[in-house]
This record gives sequence, C-alpha cells and structure tokens, in this order.
Amino acid sequence: MNHTDETSQQTSSPASSATTSPPADPARRAFLGGGAAALAAWGLGAFGAPTASAGSHGAEGGGFDPFAVPKEDGAYGLFELDYPYDALEDAIDAKTMELHHSIHTESYRVGLNNALKELETARAGDDFAKVQYWQNQLAFHGAGFMLHLVFFKNMAPAGTTRPSSALRSLMRRHFGGLEAMKRHFSAAARTVEGSGWAILGYQPVGDRFIIMQAEKHQNHTQWGVFPVLAIDVWEHAYYLRYQNRRAEYVDNFWKVVNWDNVEARALFARGMRPS
Ligand SMILES: [Fe+2]
Repeated sequence: MNHTDETSQQTSSPASSATTSPPADPARRAFLGGGAAALAAWGLGAFGAPTASAGSHGAEGGGFDPFAVPKEDGAYGLFELDYPYDALEDAIDAKTMELHHSIHTESYRVGLNNALKELETARAGDDFAKVQYWQNQLAFHGAGFMLHLVFFKNMAPAGTTRPSSALRSLMRRHFGGLEAMKRHFSAAARTVEGSGWAILGYQPVGDRFIIMQAEKHQNHTQWGVFPVLAIDVWEHAYYLRYQNRRAEYVDNFWKVVNWDNVEARALFARGMRPS
C-alpha cells in the first residue's frame, strides 16, 4: 500500500465511524447551501451565480450548487453522501467508501479549517514566520477537500443515470465524443505518477473542457479550471478490493458515474464565463 498517503500531511486524524451509512446530521443540513459564500471561498465569486439545473441526483430547477458543504462560523463541515456506503458495490466496496469518506475526507476538512485558522492567527499577530508551511497545508487540504467533494458527488448507484444528449454533444465538440473523453480520462487516471487524480474540467479562458492529471491534490493544476468529473486514484480509494489493479478500478468507476451530476457541473461551469 502506498504509505505516502494523505494522512502523512494531516494535522489530526478524526475517529472512524463504525456505521455502514454516511453520517446523517440534521443540524448540518440546516446550514447547507450558502452558494455565494462558497463561490467566494473558492475564489470563483467573480464568475457569477449558478445557472445550471441538475438531474435526478442533484437539486431540481435552478438550485444546483456544486459548492454546497456545511459551514459554521467560517469553518467547513463534512458534506454528506447522497447514497449509503454500500450503494456503489459495482465499483467500490462499502468499507473503502466508509474509510474514504469518514476518515480521509474528514481529515482534509480538519486540515483545511486548521490552516485557515492558523493563517488568521498569523495575520492578527502580524507574525508570518510560518506562512510557507501553512500556505502549503492550505493548498494540500483545501485541494483535497474540494476534489473529494467533486468525486463523491460525481457517483451514484450503477444504472441510475445516463449521459444526456446535451452532455454527449458537449463531449463531442471538445473531445470528439463521449467515448473518446472516457478513454482519455481513463488513460490519465491509470498513469498518474504516485497518488493523485484524473480530472475533467472546464477552462473558462479558452471556453473549453480539458482533462488533467493532478499529483497529490494540488500539483499540476491550471488556475481557473472548474472540476466537472474527478476520479481519486490514491490507493486508499481502491486498494482493499483492487490492490495494485488501478486500471480495473478505473474501468469499473464508469459504472457508478452520476451523469446527471456531471452534466449539471458542466453546465454550471460554462455559466461562470464572464461574457
Ligand atoms: Fe481520497
């Protein structure tokens, strides 16, 4: 197993949940939303408000908010999943899902909040002696938290969603077809060096969809790219079932992609263009 795992950069490790379902905390739901604040928090506020609607797994109508995570007193909470931990067995086993969400993702949340707090303290005290360390922590945990939000929302039980004609049309224009995009995305995911991600994203400068590899979470990014579809290829995402067979995990990932969510994110991203 890859022991350069994300916990090596974490500042704390929350306790594991023993349940087979994601935690459902009604109190968290009370402050779900806050799209404008979240846009600002991720540096995207200048691009404007959400414009897309989502399908059966997203919010109906114009309420789709890809940044909907619980927030309280400026700190991020752990977002809930839209399905039980055992709902994606066609691709990912329940134990991996539980560990991935309740421990790994939770650790990014804690690390992100901690980095933000430490930088706030530095500003208050006008003491920037450790600014390089905390900026590094902010990038690692912030990028990790964001990408896990995309990844978990990008999935749904097998057979519950299908790519729409609108999404197929977009993929045809930018990649030559949906299947070509999937082959490119899979190849990128299989060949990430070490731990990282493959990401389908929208680049507003060129008004184009692109595929990127990310090492760790924050390396090899392009500024301004909005992630539309992400697959986690850190070993913690697949090792229990697949061991070193990353390619098999990548192939099976397509069975549980939430195409409604992918389309909603793609349309939302295009709506962010300033012109
Ligand atoms: Fe992960």
